[in-house]
Amino acid sequence: MAKFFINGKNRLCGEVEMDTAKNALLPILAGCIMVEGKVTLEKATAYTDVEAMCDILRALGGVAQRKGDDLEIDCSSLDKCELSHELASPVRSSIFTLGPLLARLGKAKVAYPGGCDIGLRPIDIHLSSLRQLGCKIVEKNGYIYAEKGKPLTREVFLSFQSVGATENIMMFCALLPGESKIYNSAKEPEIVDLARFLSCCGAKIEGAGTDVITITGVERLEGCKYRAISDRIECGTFLIAAAMTGGEVKLENAVSKHNSALIEKLKTCGCFIKEGDNEIFLSAPKRLESFVDVETAVYPGFPTDLQPQIVALASIAKGCSLVFENVFENRFNYVGELLKMGCDIRFKSSICIIRGKDKIFGADVVSTDLRGGAALVLAGLACEGYTTISRVEFIDRGYFHLEDKLAQLGADIKRI
Ligand code: UD1
Repeated sequence: MAKFFINGKNRLCGEVEMDTAKNALLPILAGCIMVEGKVTLEKATAYTDVEAMCDILRALGGVAQRKGDDLEIDCSSLDKCELSHELASPVRSSIFTLGPLLARLGKAKVAYPGGCDIGLRPIDIHLSSLRQLGCKIVEKNGYIYAEKGKPLTREVFLSFQSVGATENIMMFCALLPGESKIYNSAKEPEIVDLARFLSCCGAKIEGAGTDVITITGVERLEGCKYRAISDRIECGTFLIAAAMTGGEVKLENAVSKHNSALIEKLKTCGCFIKEGDNEIFLSAPKRLESFVDVETAVYPGFPTDLQPQIVALASIAKGCSLVFENVFENRFNYVGELLKMGCDIRFKSSICIIRGKDKIFGADVVSTDLRGGAALVLAGLACEGYTTISRVEFIDRGYFHLEDKLAQLGADIKRI
């Protein structure tokens, strides 16, 4: 299994282009289940999670093939509605197939999803919403058995602004005759992007990006060419990396308004940031100030997917910082690894207290999950000496050749 080997303390400088968003591509690939025709996804970054989703489409009878940087999907003859445990459990996004399979084939048997160990991650909101929309759902022996039926209501209220549930229900309703509404829907940019993709295929969706989405069902969806938005979490990770190494970087294909909450905190830490049209420039001071406190929240709040990285930053900033994790109940698994590098962090339930140190040191550490692994890479870049990070397969789920991009900016990092 691969490891990262980092020799820390190099300043990150230069320009680098951000990839296409993992969390946009995954639901879009599930949406392809409903499309009768060829979909070309331009610059569809080959994250391992994206490749796993392509395997799922193939198992369902669709075609998914790489053409250079693009992905060509054709689910015209998709005819299987069953997803085994083997295919569903490696990724969380396998649950996104439920709505589209019900919409296209009228029934589905899908094993429970997997994904990073950052909390319980129930799917009750997905299931209760589909039930309200008339689906008969039985959970048995690790599978969800579902069948389309007569809707009890066309207005669904989500008890929490769940990203995945909003996406699943929006997709299901795209082929449901008549008008459906999702209240208290999540507002993440990836939801707006999924709605844009489905609209390119002929769907009628209004209000994505607000807390009420209205979907008017159409008879069928047709193929299209589509390029998903850039990855705001990769962008945030690189901004933090530059900040932690006293660097100066320009990120291209980067949408600053998707990272407003982070940018505000980085400015508090003393970074100079210039937000351009599809690019962000950051210049960091020699020593970062504390950002004081951060609370994760649904968009446009501070993203939980950048919580481990901002904790890594606080570990070398001046003074004391507080980080509250409000979205997932078990997202501090990586902290034990940061302690091995000399960080001073305490946590209790959902609160992390970080006392910034002048220096932290390299160590042998283990990725615990995707974003926790990214936080270890950042600490490795900013610390004195050598760091070895194992289990980088977690990191590959959501960063494509992270080491090459960091090396392009001057980091001394290798995959071994
Ligand atoms: C998506 C992102 C993930 C990000 C998260 C929050 C993808 C592929 N993943 O995950 O990277 O960290 O949004 O921004 O897009 N919940 C329930 N019941 C449900 C659904 C969710 O209780 O049926 C809870 C979850 O346990 C969690 C919270 O709601 O505590 C947020 O989850 P949700 O927004 O659904 O996240 P995901 O779609 O899984």
